[in-house]
Amino acid sequence: MTMTRRLALAAAFAAPLAAAPALAQPTITVQHALPVNSHTGAGAAAFKEAFERLTGGRYRVVTQRNDNEREMIESVQIGTIDCTFTSTGPVGNFVPEVRIFDVPFLFRDAAHARGVLDSEIGQQVLARFQARGLYGVIWTENGFRHLTNSRREVNNPADVRGLKLRTMENQVHMRAFRELGALPTPMAFSELVPALQQGTVDGQENPISVILGNNLNQVQRFMTLTNHVYSPSVMICNPATVQRLSAADRALFMEAARAAQQANRARVTADDTNGVEELRRRGMTVVTQVDTAAFQQALAPAFAEWERTMDAALLRRIRDWR
Ligand code: PAF
Repeated sequence: MTMTRRLALAAAFAAPLAAAPALAQPTITVQHALPVNSHTGAGAAAFKEAFERLTGGRYRVVTQRNDNEREMIESVQIGTIDCTFTSTGPVGNFVPEVRIFDVPFLFRDAAHARGVLDSEIGQQVLARFQARGLYGVIWTENGFRHLTNSRREVNNPADVRGLKLRTMENQVHMRAFRELGALPTPMAFSELVPALQQGTVDGQENPISVILGNNLNQVQRFMTLTNHVYSPSVMICNPATVQRLSAADRALFMEAARAAQQANRARVTADDTNGVEELRRRGMTVVTQVDTAAFQQALAPAFAEWERTMDAALLRRIRDWR
């Protein structure tokens, strides 16, 4: 066989290989509320960095901002995005068992909340997502929520009476604020700043990290460290996204999710430590001495209702968790 013929044959065999398209790099789209430089952005960025690194670049993770958390959950459910980091605000409308974690004054501090969520209690609630066409991956957080408003200093429960307050689309939170005599107005976070600017609502409640990161001091003069409820967040994915992964990649996915949890919690801790000083520097009046017992007492009828409508034994187990 001549050299030319040999080369021609080699080229003919090589051609199909050369023409074969490169294997597509699967993309995982993850949405989160708030700016990249926030506790939610920190979690999503850590997930992206860890999963892409651990899988040697076989996957690409695309992170996107969306301040409408209900919309993100719906998109995950129908599969137009793969995953979201969302507060539990609207999650109870999809997975009612989650509402137990939204009960005011349930957790003593961050260690208590993180401990419960990472324990079998939190894992059992994550397992309930499957029945609703969702995959609960891991608990992250927003931190403890505080009250801000443009009308007056809030020093005791009576000061809350009559305030029009934006709440998340969360039945438990709305019930609590109604009990305090406020007028809770549920809306997505994306609508909050215009609503505060136009006076549709007087105030809102969110953790320091959110108030700080979104410059809510520009539209709110007063803040009270009510610590009225711990605000968990959760990474939720479309079940098919997780099922498509091999067992080995699923383990790496979970490792990346733990990196996200760590980055997110570390940022919340840092914001909680430095935030009050910074918000005062920006001109907010911050009330730090709060009569927590008075707020708890004012909520007594709501607590009694949750004892009846939720799993009372589980509520007790969570409260007593050490
Ligand atoms: O207030 C909310 O809706 C949530 O706390 C936020 C800011 C979207 C973060 O999860």
